Amino acid sequence: MAVVPFNVASVLGREMEYIEDAIRSQHISGNGKYTSLCSSYLVDHIGSSACFLTPSCTDALEMSALLADLHVGDEVIMPSYTFTSTANAVVLRGAVPVFVDIRRDTLNIDETLIEQAITSRTKAIMVVHYAGVGCEMDAILEIARRYDLIVIEDAAQGLYADYRGKPLGSFGHLSAFSFHETKNIVSGEGGALMINDSKFIDRGEILWEKGTNRVKYKRGIVNKYNWVDVGSSFLPSEITSAFLYAQLEVGRQATDQRLALWQAYHDAFRPLQETGKLSIPNPPDHCAHNGHIFYILAPTAKHREIWLDQLGVRDGINAVIHYVPLHSAPAGLRFGRSCGEMTVTDEISARLVRLPLHLQLSPDDVSRVIQSVERLPV
Ligand SMILES: Cc1ncc(COP(=O)(O)O)c(C=O)c1O
Repeated sequence: MAVVPFNVASVLGREMEYIEDAIRSQHISGNGKYTSLCSSYLVDHIGSSACFLTPSCTDALEMSALLADLHVGDEVIMPSYTFTSTANAVVLRGAVPVFVDIRRDTLNIDETLIEQAITSRTKAIMVVHYAGVGCEMDAILEIARRYDLIVIEDAAQGLYADYRGKPLGSFGHLSAFSFHETKNIVSGEGGALMINDSKFIDRGEILWEKGTNRVKYKRGIVNKYNWVDVGSSFLPSEITSAFLYAQLEVGRQATDQRLALWQAYHDAFRPLQETGKLSIPNPPDHCAHNGHIFYILAPTAKHREIWLDQLGVRDGINAVIHYVPLHSAPAGLRFGRSCGEMTVTDEISARLVRLPLHLQLSPDDVSRVIQSVERLPV
């Protein structure tokens, strides 16, 4: 039986040509032609003041934590239902992730629980746009304004998605994207830090270039470059950026193809939701998502275990779980704290099954997945 893989990274356009061009140009380290093309594209698309391409979203989040000037004992509010990188970026600065529960409809941070988590040590709010569905940014930005907090969007999954007609990644002071091969637009490993408040640009340039003012040197503003602040190796190579640029050039079309697959699952499973067998995502109308994830929620955790087994072993469908909550993980208990109950986080993370979703899925594959889900027992 042929397996329907959970994810396949696709070549979408001129990746090979651009990589060859980068190699022939004899500039394959960072901050060359393709870094510049990708950054300009992202600045235009998101409407940001600047972009720093990074080797991963993890790196972009770590740069954000440095730019937010987090220190030992500072607190950052975030959902527990996220990837470790959101919290690690904070913990690496000696700061404390403060976890709050998520909304049942979008699986995003519950904005109504943020205010009660604020203390005199709170410095920032990190939001995660799960499955490319926007968090309630109007309410979140309003709270941040009132308490003078920095907003960082973990938009790892959010490229080509909007909240009230504005791109995800354009709301926070800073935002981070991922181009890891499991995302919609990929470069193997890859990421970008978007700067939406220009006061962060100068220090961003220095952190990006290992704590030096090399960006200013390249622009001819200083005649030699020097060590001026902390920093790290946050540049991707031109080979990575060449691959990424080819993907970005056709990113919108690739997203439309992905949305069509997402819709096919949605149409097929709506009747099953009506019978109460399972739940499916129903993004709010003001959140134009990007089809990043299609998940189903089993009625109970026990059903989820049986379903994963039947999908995989019986039918060859590579379906997977997603985030394991951070608040109760060993490092979450050690480095973070929870504010309030994590009822929705605990329940949803134990019931969620992600179905295969990628541009190599054939109509036959989609039918196999649908039929396999229809046959699952309740
Ligand atoms: C919400 C979130 N943030 C950050 C990351 C890390 O991304 P990367 O693998 O590009 O470092 C992921 C990875 O899946 C993620 O889901």
